[in-house]
Amino acid sequence: MSNFPISEIRKDFPILETKINKNDLVYFDNAATTQKPQSVIDSLSNYYKSFNSNIHRGVHQLAEKATEEFESTRETAKSFINASSTNEIIFTRGATEGINLVAASYCKNFLKKGDEIIISEMEHHSNIVPWQMVAKENDLVIKTIKVTGKGELDMEHFKSLLNENTKFVSIVYISNTLGTINPVKELVNISNNAGAKVLVDAAQATSHKNVDVKDLNCDFFVFSAHKMYGPTGVGILYGKEKILEKMPPYMGGGEMIKDVSFEDTTYNTLPYKFEAGTPNIGDVIGFKKAIEYLNDLGRQNIYKYEKEIRDHAWKELKKIDRIKLVGTSDSKIGIFSFYVEGFHYYDLGLFLDAKGIAIRTGHHCTQPLMDKMNLDGTARVSLAMYNTYEEINYFIDELKKIISK
Ligand code: ALA
Repeated sequence: MSNFPISEIRKDFPILETKINKNDLVYFDNAATTQKPQSVIDSLSNYYKSFNSNIHRGVHQLAEKATEEFESTRETAKSFINASSTNEIIFTRGATEGINLVAASYCKNFLKKGDEIIISEMEHHSNIVPWQMVAKENDLVIKTIKVTGKGELDMEHFKSLLNENTKFVSIVYISNTLGTINPVKELVNISNNAGAKVLVDAAQATSHKNVDVKDLNCDFFVFSAHKMYGPTGVGILYGKEKILEKMPPYMGGGEMIKDVSFEDTTYNTLPYKFEAGTPNIGDVIGFKKAIEYLNDLGRQNIYKYEKEIRDHAWKELKKIDRIKLVGTSDSKIGIFSFYVEGFHYYDLGLFLDAKGIAIRTGHHCTQPLMDKMNLDGTARVSLAMYNTYEEINYFIDELKKIISK
């Protein structure tokens, strides 16, 4: 067992003290959203208590302080993903908005009738629907990479889809339903060689492993603060500067302009060109605390500890005959989707909730993947760095009791 400071970490997350029906809360719904450490919570209230103000506009001291703190998150996020410049860091409402921005700005303007976009069968709806919307408008073709029985991308099938019309590939880094860690570096390399740009949906990756956009060499990369211990309503779109430069704005409004007249408008420089309107200032500032929390612990250490608890949960789940696991790749984080013959996943969720165990049930916003697996939903346990062996053992015991009824 590693010397990961699990007891100290748990003390930093006040919600973990909660009782549900007199049981200790066991929070296993981390792929939906993670809990927040005290430093993030304090940062939010401190902003509203001490320096709430709009940014980039005022000369007064509150505005200066708010602007400084806001921009310092951009700097911290740049280092976190190893981007080259803060011009490549665009604040969004979350990963979903980042994908919509690229679809509506890049694909709508640079892809033409008959061009092809490749996604995969394991994508979240947010990495399917925006492409369908732009495909309808521009007469584009969407192709999907097959997923194998183990829940991995079929790379040979992917290669067979590439041709001179392939202009864009959008792929999930870690599947929210299967937990599979996809070989995105290899995928980017193959796609770029075929002349296609690549977006990586890293919503489930950033809290679990080191991410490095230079190493991946992807063109776009999106993630959300709330899945990495930060506030909801904030995310980041990374794009290579030379591509972002060419892209037209996604939304019009204040902040994204240089000069406005009724005859014409000129746009602001990067990154502000893509940040119309007053942003989510307090939450962006809180996001920095979440990144610092992860940096302080070290993502290598987090990955190592999470792998230990993943292995333990996996070993115990495999011992229960009636549990059918969906997603059994060795390259996987602690996300376990499963079903039990004769039990509706919804009932499993409710029974576990009665014992204080929070899991997600349903299609996990991946309906095409469920269709492919001939399922309409699963129960899903998704682990985070504050989960423990004891919590996993308690869950396994309760699950066994429920399904033996
Ligand atoms: N995408 C989130 C999940 O997997 C909401 O639960």
